[in-house]
Amino acid sequence: MNNITKICCIGAGYVGGPTMAVIAKKCPHIKVTVVDLNEQRIAAWNDPDVSNIPVYEPGLSEVVAEARGRNLFFSTDVESAIDEAEMIFISVNTPTKTYGAGKGQAADLKWIELCARQIARVAKDNKIIVEKSTLPVRTASAIKDILQHTGNGSQFQILSNPEFLAEGTAMEDLDAPDRVLIGGDSTAEGQNAVQALVDVYANWIPRERILTTNVWSSELSKLTANAFLAQRVSSINSLTELCEKTEANISEVAKAIGTDSRIGPKFLKASVGFGGSCFQKDILNLVYIAKSYGLDEVADYWEQVIIMNDHQKRRFANRIIKNLYNTVNGKKITFLGWAFKKDTNDTREAASIYVADHLLHEQADIAVFDPKVQAPQVYADLDYLRTREPAENKSGVTVVTDPYEACKGAHAIAILTEWDEFKGYDWQKIYDSMLKPAKVFDGRNLLDAAKLQEIGFQVWSIGSSI
Ligand SMILES: NC(=O)c1ccc[n+]([C@@H]2O[C@H](COP(=O)([O-])OP(=O)(O)OC[C@H]3O[C@@H](n4cnc5c(N)ncnc54)[C@H](O)[C@@H]3O)[C@@H](O)[C@H]2O)c1
Repeated sequence: MNNITKICCIGAGYVGGPTMAVIAKKCPHIKVTVVDLNEQRIAAWNDPDVSNIPVYEPGLSEVVAEARGRNLFFSTDVESAIDEAEMIFISVNTPTKTYGAGKGQAADLKWIELCARQIARVAKDNKIIVEKSTLPVRTASAIKDILQHTGNGSQFQILSNPEFLAEGTAMEDLDAPDRVLIGGDSTAEGQNAVQALVDVYANWIPRERILTTNVWSSELSKLTANAFLAQRVSSINSLTELCEKTEANISEVAKAIGTDSRIGPKFLKASVGFGGSCFQKDILNLVYIAKSYGLDEVADYWEQVIIMNDHQKRRFANRIIKNLYNTVNGKKITFLGWAFKKDTNDTREAASIYVADHLLHEQADIAVFDPKVQAPQVYADLDYLRTREPAENKSGVTVVTDPYEACKGAHAIAILTEWDEFKGYDWQKIYDSMLKPAKVFDGRNLLDAAKLQEIGFQVWSIGSSI
């Protein structure tokens, strides 16, 4: 089955959507159908106006506009798409379990299992199943078990092909990835399946960038790649507090560390903490896996990355409170940014949510402006924490669609996301409209602190003693 002509992807989210759009663009001879149970999401992917597609990612809407209806299709008819496809990507969500054994750490594989059962029920011929979701090591054996015991005699090969794209740069990452990782069985059938997927990627990716391994190495590499990246963020963030105490400057320290070629300059940007749907869930999952093998020291080692991150978010909120004379009760604090990072509309696990929650405990009035996040999402994120009634979140937080309006009458501005446009704002105009002393808490070290001070702002940048 080496010449794949029909692909189906189950899950039209932040991974399934962009990944399949790029495959469709690069492989016009392959018909790509992306399916999802969520009708609203599929309707948005099919919106005639491509600026309404549900995932914001620079460059994505152009690719969707080009390929949609040609060889890229979005549908809720999961069964037909499974039936038709030779290769099925599973790209559904795998969040942290919120109930039962492993609650708060293990990955919830409910949706993965549902996919496997549905494929087994529908498939009438042999198929290659590709794990695109990030999964605990050894998940492929569970999928295989379900397919073999509930299917109707069709043969399945399970491949692991984790996705390394980063939101905000997904299209560049997919266009020219550092590497593509494909894990498969060592049997002849397994290797044939691996080759079929290699051939798909080889349409635009140099062969030497396509790594092939066994299934377990591939599954474990994705989980641990995220753990290493998150660890770097926690490592640099752990030094911000020390810099603030010692008059060292975190940006200078990061540069000095990063110019060592053994360390490298990337991912050394201090911040209010990492967010996003992946880092925390994947490390928790790693911690859980280590514990389940009785490897307590390994589990503790990685858990510390999360502990540091939680500390950084709380510390930022506490810093605001302390600096506003130990009370924020009834004070307007404006958040610039809500998304977990720039160039995405994804807010899952964003630091802003936790900082807001902490400040709401202290009865602050929060105004939020984000270029790509709308009010319902902000309230949904806060309500999801279940720390207070939705009505209280509504009365404590106002979402504003104009940044100048958001800052008017504020005691302080907190930068939560590093959107480039914040740098270009008319900061004099903002200053003039605020209460004095006008304060800026820069959780991303985004703004030019000296310039703001010249205007009259009191500025606190994370990791610096000013
Ligand atoms: N978001 C990222 O940056 C990123 C990067 C690399 C890997 N991953 C991994 O990829 C996976 C997907 O992440 P995401 O961010 O795209 O999630 P997402 O929540 O944006 O999308 C998942 C989609 O799957 C759909 N779905 C769930 N069960 C289904 C079923 N049985 N049938 C049809 N559709 C179903 C959901 O409705 C949802 O739209 C996760 O395992 C994640 O860890 C994510």
